[in-house]
Order: sequence, then C-alpha cells, then structure tokens
Amino acid sequence: MLDVRNIRSGYGKALAIEDVTFTLGASESLAILGRNGAGKSTTLKTLMGMTPAWQGRIGFKGNDIVKLSSDAIARAGIGYVPEERRIFESLSVTENLQTGEKAGASGDAPWTVARVFDLFPEIARRSTAPAGTLSGGERQMLAVGRALMGNPDLLLLDEPSEGLAPVVVNRLGDALSELRRAGIAILISEQNRRLARLAAENVVIMETGRIAYRGTFSELDRNPEITARLLGV
Ligand SMILES: Nc1ncnc2c1ncn2[C@@H]1O[C@H](COP(=O)(O)OP(=O)(O)O)[C@@H](O)[C@H]1O
Ligand SMILES: [Mg+2]
Repeated sequence: MLDVRNIRSGYGKALAIEDVTFTLGASESLAILGRNGAGKSTTLKTLMGMTPAWQGRIGFKGNDIVKLSSDAIARAGIGYVPEERRIFESLSVTENLQTGEKAGASGDAPWTVARVFDLFPEIARRSTAPAGTLSGGERQMLAVGRALMGNPDLLLLDEPSEGLAPVVVNRLGDALSELRRAGIAILISEQNRRLARLAAENVVIMETGRIAYRGTFSELDRNPEITARLLGV
C-alpha cells in the first residue's frame, strides 16, 4: 500500500533525511524509532507533502503521491496526527471531530463521531466542552479521532506519547491495537518503545537522517546492543 523509495528531504539547503526506503502492506504497521533529530518527523512530513521530497518516490495504493498537495494526500487515504496535535481550541470536541470529515470521501465511510466516542469514551464525556479545556491525553485522543474521521487506510502518528502520563500511553496503546485489528495500517514515530510495539510489529531505527536498522521488535529484544548504540537506552 505504501512504497517509500530513497526519499531525501530537508529544510532550506540543510539535508534532514536521506535514502529513506520502506514499504508497508495493507493493514501492516511499522514503527520508526530514533533519538531526537534523527529524522522521524521529517519522514512523516515528507509523506504528507509538508516538506518537499528532494528526491525519491512515494507510492500509495499504486499512485505516486510525491507531487500531491497535503490535502490531496489526506483525501487519498492517509490520516496524519502531527507532533503538535492540532486541534481547534475554541470548538467543542464534537465539532473538532466533524472538521475531520472529508468531503467527497469515496466508498464506505465507516468512521462517525459515535464510533470515535466508542474508541475513546474519555472524550465522549467531554463532547460539548471546548477542546481547549482538555487534558494532554484527551487532546491526543481527539487528534487521533479527528484523523480517523477522514476514514484513512493509513494512519501516521508522530510521537503520540510525548508528554503523556504512562496510564494514558497505555490507553493509547490499547486504542492503536484496536485500530490495527480493524485493518488500518499504522506508521508511528516514537521514542517510547512500549507504545511503539503495541502499535506496530516491524520497526526501523533512524539515525542522523538514515535508516540504521530494520527488523522486528522480537529481533530487537534479542539484540540489546543495537538499541544501546542507536537509541542509547
Ligand atoms: N523546521 C525545521 N527547520 C530546520 N531544520 C529542521 C526543522 N525541523 C527539523 N529540522 C532538522 O532536521 C533534522 C531531523 O529532524 P526531525 O525530523 O524533526 O527529527 P525527529 O522527529 O526524529 O526528532 C534535525 O537535524 C533537525 O534539526
Ligand atoms: Mg519529531
């Protein structure tokens, strides 16, 4: 479903990622681990057309999306939850979810406000509250819910655990496992390995803009020297 080949991107003239190559089948999930500055966010932003790919190919469901606008990429079926969890502070929780609906979405549109509330009862209880009054965890649930309202085939999550209490990270992990079972492909960038492995089976580790390791979490567990070297834990 997603075929990323040799992408290279950066900011101004400064190279940020290079030779980034990976594939993701339908309903598959992949975690991108790496220290701060390794290139995780840039990789996701390049997939979303938010930083330009200087080189390389991004195939999604058979089409090259590398030159499409972010909007067109979202409409093609990629949901994106950025690091900064963009929500509309003055709109209610329900209204925020409604802004995630994609006009003219093709085919079946399984996600509704009610279904998001089933997944995240925490925010159902706050449905009429202005989103600006939500806790960090509730905001993240709302940001994920808003992305789901676009009925994505693939969900990109950029360090969703950042700044959240462990109990909330567990909740998020449960929800992401449920989404995987529902057949949504997930590409998650994380520094929290526990959440990453709840969300994904396969893993790549980035180091200074390149993929330095690829494999499964169980392989990683058997090779602690790899995590020590690439993640410093
Ligand atoms: N908006 C930006 N302007 C300039 N350089 C940036 C910007 N965002 C990230 N970078 C640089 O790109 C590299 C990769 O960063 P990033 O993709 O944010 O890494 P990560 O998400 O893994 O922490 C780093 O060297 C970082 O300093
Ligand atoms: Mg980042």
